[in-house]
Amino acid sequence: MDKIRAMITGIQGYVPEYRLTNKELEKLVETNDEWITSRTGIKERRILKGENQGTSVMGIEAVKGLLEKTNTDPLDIELIICATVTPDMPFPATANIIADKVGAKNSYSFDVSAACSGFLYALQLGSQFIQSGTHKKVIVVGADKMSSIVDYQDRTTCILFGDGAGAVLLEPTTEEFGVMDAILKADGSGEPYLHMKAGGSRRPASHETIDAREHYAYQEGSTVFKFAVTNMADVSAEVMERNGLQGEDIAWLVPHQANKRIIDATANRMGVGPEKVMMNIERYGNTTAATIPLCLWDYEKQLHKGDNLILAAFGGGFTWGAIYVKWALDPK
Ligand code: UT7
Repeated sequence: MDKIRAMITGIQGYVPEYRLTNKELEKLVETNDEWITSRTGIKERRILKGENQGTSVMGIEAVKGLLEKTNTDPLDIELIICATVTPDMPFPATANIIADKVGAKNSYSFDVSAACSGFLYALQLGSQFIQSGTHKKVIVVGADKMSSIVDYQDRTTCILFGDGAGAVLLEPTTEEFGVMDAILKADGSGEPYLHMKAGGSRRPASHETIDAREHYAYQEGSTVFKFAVTNMADVSAEVMERNGLQGEDIAWLVPHQANKRIIDATANRMGVGPEKVMMNIERYGNTTAATIPLCLWDYEKQLHKGDNLILAAFGGGFTWGAIYVKWALDPK
């Protein structure tokens, strides 16, 4: 029997309207546009405003758009996986809320927590369900409302993050397209350098944890930077080597958007020129699980059938990985 692969047959993103600019951040913390731009490449980020607006709001918009665009009946969706570290609430899963609101009544759904590598983890998971031959339509969502866990008094983190969501539809093919290979890694000893101190079972919410501002993302930036630069580049090079790919064979590097300097280093190591690197960090900042699908969405019109893409990420956990995708569609 021919090998079944999971191909991406649709991509849709959603970002909220509100733009938090570097200029506005200058009013909140001791920082400036020049520092933020030169150290990170970020100019502005989108923020989801309003009462009772959780991550699912953005995931729902992305999935609704995806279903419409691909002419897919929500009742045909068998599984929805949502990668997020900012679920609407600890339980139920945000994926359940999304499934309900888009009318995916025949689907089961769950969340994946792998921080900035979340979309890659969820994509590989979703692909396995397709490759096994048991599922025909799986949706993978990457969505985060980082503004809900960002401390706008901490200049080392608040300048980095934004809100957004992206979703892809996975369907089977026996042709040489789709998710070709994946290398995913994790190292739990990275916990001290990037985590949220309280709000989980180890340190449930209390007056003390709130007073100590422990319900926000904490990051030791320069340590994470060093790990990210090495590991994202190493794993991208490894997946290329394993598949006999040289720099010139790659149509696009689709990197997690955490810092332009990390992206440049990864592209360099892969021998891929800047014209082949998807980048939208200047407009959205780091949207955690949403960066990679938001890049694919932004660059969709420039993607052609047969293009070799390397998706790469590094994030909290530590988690990191690279996925080799052969794009299955020509631009509409
Ligand atoms: O997506 C999940 C994974 N996360 C990442 O990949 C992020 C990795 N880390 C980074 O991208 C970078 O480490 C940052 C952008 C967070 C920071 O850049 P850096 O070049 O590593 O700066 P630094 O932390 O070493 O700080 C350099 C200086 C410090 O001042 P002193 O000690 O040299 O006087 C900071 O206090 O810059 C200062 N600084 C700032 N200055 C102006 C830190 N944040 C700011 C700020 N504005 N917002």
